[in-house]
Amino acid sequence: MPAPSTLPLPIRTPSPEEAAVFVDLHHQCDRETDFLLYSGDDRPINAEMMVGVLTRAAEISDPLILCAWDGDTPVAYISGMRGRSPKTCHSIVLGVAVRRDWWGRGLGRDLIQAFETKALTLGIRRIELSVIVENVRAHNLYQTLGYQKEGLRRGSILLADRLVDEVAMVKLLAA
Ligand SMILES: CC(C)(COP(=O)(O)OP(=O)(O)OC[C@H]1O[C@@H](n2cnc3c(N)ncnc32)[C@H](O)[C@@H]1OP(=O)(O)O)[C@@H](O)C(=O)NCCC(=O)NCCS
Repeated sequence: MPAPSTLPLPIRTPSPEEAAVFVDLHHQCDRETDFLLYSGDDRPINAEMMVGVLTRAAEISDPLILCAWDGDTPVAYISGMRGRSPKTCHSIVLGVAVRRDWWGRGLGRDLIQAFETKALTLGIRRIELSVIVENVRAHNLYQTLGYQKEGLRRGSILLADRLVDEVAMVKLLAA
């Protein structure tokens, strides 16, 4: 049943009080695809741990965790892991997922664009990611948004006893 909300959905960072629904979204996305790092319910995160993550995020003014919201329910997320040293802090690794009933309605694109806008304000100049070669939908999305292939990570993913390659992609942000 398609969700009734009007597009574009609002995009914002979840608060610590929203940790449980944010965790639920991760688990649901993990169950709905083989293309994320975790499957089913094996992601080692629970609401209590997520409260900690979101509390720390709330302490900095511009956390790089964003969700698209259908009312009070997050239906897509994007987050980044930034380099920690002075020589890598301009760079961030991106992860994104959309709840399956929302695929193909521009949420992935909207989230990545919002993430890039925010990243630039934080002095980030390079966004990188890895995408499983079979993940045509995600690959097309990244390519459409200007991400370029920079290499092949051979056998980097173990998927049901199969070694699967990932494409490493990058986008340099104009200062
Ligand atoms: C990959 C994913 C994030 C895309 O999100 P989405 O909201 O469905 O994507 P959008 O609706 O924003 O689509 C944007 C672009 O994706 C591509 N795309 C969308 N549907 C597609 C399809 N069925 N086949 C191929 N490409 C497709 C197109 O380039 C599209 O651009 P267009 O709308 O201008 O044609 C989402 O499908 C998802 O969460 N997949 C499972 C988790 C995952 O794979 N995450 C990425 C790990 S690297």
